[in-house]
Formats: sequence, C-alpha cells, structure tokens
Amino acid sequence: MLKIEDLHVEVEGREVLRGINLEIGPGQTCVLFGPNGSGKSTLLATIMGFGQFKVTQGRIFFQGKDITNMPIDERARMGIGMLLQRPPNVVGLKLGDLVKAASCQDVDVSHLAEDFRMKAFLDRDVNVGFSGGELKRSELLQLTAQNPRFLLLDEPESGVDMESIDLVGEKIHDLLYDTKQCGREKENESVSALIITHTGEVLKYIGADCAYIIRDGKIRCSGRPMDLLKEIKDKGYGECIACRMVKI
Ligand SMILES: Nc1ncnc2c1ncn2[C@@H]1O[C@H](COP(=O)(O)OP(=O)(O)O)[C@@H](O)[C@H]1O
Ligand SMILES: [Mg+2]
Repeated sequence: MLKIEDLHVEVEGREVLRGINLEIGPGQTCVLFGPNGSGKSTLLATIMGFGQFKVTQGRIFFQGKDITNMPIDERARMGIGMLLQRPPNVVGLKLGDLVKAASCQDVDVSHLAEDFRMKAFLDRDVNVGFSGGELKRSELLQLTAQNPRFLLLDEPESGVDMESIDLVGEKIHDLLYDTKQCGREKENESVSALIITHTGEVLKYIGADCAYIIRDGKIRCSGRPMDLLKEIKDKGYGECIACRMVKI
C-alpha cells in the first residue's frame, strides 16, 4: 500500500531523513519509535506532502502510484490522512466548516461531533484555545469525517488527559477497524496505519504488526511492537538489544 525507497528529506536546508526504506501492506499497522528530533514527524509529514519538507532523493509510492511530488490535497483525496503532533490554530475557520469540507460523504457533522464530545466546539475557530485532549479529539473528528485508508498518526496519545484517553483510543480503533464508515464495507477496504508513539499507550486499543526505531534520520531496526517497546523502556534507545539483533 505504501512503499518508500531511499528517502532523503531536507528541512530548512538541513538533511533530516537520510535514506528511509519502508513498506506497509494493506491492513497493516506499524509503529514508529525514536528519540526526540530523530525525524519521525518529518517522515509522516513528508508522506502527507507538507511543503516545507523537501525530498532530495528517493521516492514514495502509494497504491502503486508515485506520489513523491503530488500536492497534499491530491494525497488526501487518494485516502491518506494525518493526525498532527502539534496542529496549528486556524483563525477564521470554524471547526464545523472544516469537518464538513473534509467529509467523505454527507456526514451529519453535529451528530458525529457529539460522538467525540466536540459538539460545543463546532462554532469555534479550529484549535484556538483547545486543550491537549481537545486538540486530539478535534484531529480525530476531522480524520473520521475524511475516512482515510492510510492513517498517519503523530503521537495521538500525547498531552491527552486520563478522561479523554479512552475516547481517543476507541476512535483510533474505529478508524482502523470500523467497516461501516462511509460505506467502506462495500469497497472491501482495509485500513493501514503508521503511528508514532513514545509510550505505546495506543497499543492498548489497537493491534500492530510491525515496529521500527528511527534515529538520526534512518531506520535502525525493526521488530515486534511490544518487544521493541520493552527494550526501549528497559534500556533506552542507546543500547537496544532488539536493535542489535534485527539490524537493518
Ligand atoms: N519546520 C522545521 N524547521 C526547521 N527545522 C525543523 C522543522 N521541522 C523539523 N525540523 C528539525 O528536524 C529534526 C527532526 O524533527 P522531527 O521530525 O520533528 O523529530 P521527531 O518527530 O522525531 O521528534 C529536528 O532537529 C527538528 O528541529
Ligand atoms: Mg515529532
């Protein structure tokens, strides 16, 4: 579904990704670990197509099509959707209007928002003054309306209060497995995901097939998600035994 070949990416004239190779099949969920500043968000934002991330080498394929230079809106229409680590404030745009515009078909925005405890926010400017948990719920509401077939989730659980974490987890679960959304069952679609997590909290709500550790702009090793998480928790990123065993 997604194939990345030798991807090099520059941000503000500095090379951040230095030769990433990655493949994620239909229905596969992979998690991405790595220390701060290693290039995790850059990788996801480059797959989504944000302009400030300049591909200097390598290619990205989605469903067999080369999307390396494709504009972000076309990628979204192809079914790629992203939850941002730090979503920006959008002054002058109401959340309700954004959700309506993002919807894959005639969605009852008010009804959908209720499900995310976001109904009271529909008339507010996108993200302005939202708390940590509200930001993530707002992002997930937009994603659910869009109904992507490939999810890029950048630290979906970070900054979320205890009260919202179950809701966030359940909504991510639904994005991956609820086949009723937007008539997906008719198309027999399976959703894939690439998820950045530090704590692994999200893995309480969904299954994951593979995990990678990225450091200094390169994928250093792969393994089973719970194995790598345990290694990282026990020993940190510096001396990860699993990394030494499954070196890439
Ligand atoms: N818009 C930007 N402008 C300048 N530097 C950036 C920008 N985005 C990311 N970087 C830099 O790229 C590196 C990788 O960042 P990032 O991908 O956000 O790391 P991670 O998500 O793994 O913590 C960091 O050194 C960061 O400062
Ligand atoms: Mg990040």
